[in-house]
Amino acid sequence: EKGGYDYFMLKEIAEQPKAVADTLLGRIDLAGNLCLDEVRIPASVLREVSKVVIVACGTAYHAGMIAKYAIEHWTRIPCETELASEFRYRDPILDQRTLVIAISQSGETMDTLMALRHAREQGAKVLAICNTNGSTIPRESDAVLYTHAGPEVAVASTKAFLTQLVACYLVALYLGQVRGTKWGDEILSVIRELSEIATQVDQVLETMEPVRELARSLADKNTVLFLGRHVGYPVALEGALKLKELAYMHAEGFAAGELKHGPIALIEQDVPVVVVVPSPRGRSVLHDKIVSNIQEIRARGARTIVIAERGDETVAPYADHLIEIPATPTLLQPLVATVPLQVFACELATARGNEVDQPRNLAKSVTVE
Ligand code: F6R
Repeated sequence: EKGGYDYFMLKEIAEQPKAVADTLLGRIDLAGNLCLDEVRIPASVLREVSKVVIVACGTAYHAGMIAKYAIEHWTRIPCETELASEFRYRDPILDQRTLVIAISQSGETMDTLMALRHAREQGAKVLAICNTNGSTIPRESDAVLYTHAGPEVAVASTKAFLTQLVACYLVALYLGQVRGTKWGDEILSVIRELSEIATQVDQVLETMEPVRELARSLADKNTVLFLGRHVGYPVALEGALKLKELAYMHAEGFAAGELKHGPIALIEQDVPVVVVVPSPRGRSVLHDKIVSNIQEIRARGARTIVIAERGDETVAPYADHLIEIPATPTLLQPLVATVPLQVFACELATARGNEVDQPRNLAKSVTVE
């Protein structure tokens, strides 16, 4: 059942190109229009939405953080993403024009379920993004967009995360299309680029041997830090979460712009720091700022592990280890940038003799608050 792999996690990492393609299947027509009729929230209602609130836990929360960038950019609707466990307890402001998006692989996470119940009681519409047919969260939502990742068995989420991202992009682009923002042309081109993503994820998977080797060489480290900016920030958080869960190492993700406000004090000789670099095209200001962050931490002795777009020559001189990923539109980069971090965590767990599919103290679905 592991299809020749040692662990379900390895199998599920390898299945990501298919999971991504399956989640797009039938949702884009030949003219590049999105067909999300299954969402069953009429366009007239979506046009009236004044605020989007995303609730989720763990890895699904990281997908939601990335979705916020996409939704605000393509739709110009204010969007906030909140941990489901925090949301309900702060008396959030919701009304009939609020669209709540609940993201959950299992569809059974109690914190997320309680958050969406609270939202519906306040009159908000709830759209679930879920991987499990007929589970509780979609049943209690107004609408659902299923991710088609197939069953995810390993406790650490991988392919479900990539498909959650795809579903979030689809919702963001759809809202943008329905509401007709000024980004119409960009929306069409991103839809086209989305169709290429499965192939690009596949290309990343084919170049992972150096990442595995690097992971093995770090097996006796205590700490790994992760830095990112813009959509690379949630990617850094996700990389750190995978490493905590699987390798039981102290792993922390930071927004690179925060470095000077505290975390830089953690940089000492040989501490591995993974940096997710935005594309030098697109938001190039951020690219340049992150390159100076890399120089700063390297000057203080950090071992820099740099994830950057292939052909980005400005970062290479400062990278002790360079992990190249294919060029994508800025907002889609998490789909390719996360994959090396999954492989990295999985290999480190193996090197440290940990149980990859069943990390200690964790359960696949958390059905208590
Ligand atoms: C991390 C992980 C957890 C889940 C979280 C939410 O690898 O698996 O952080 O992402 O418990 O679970 P779902 O998506 O089932 O609501």
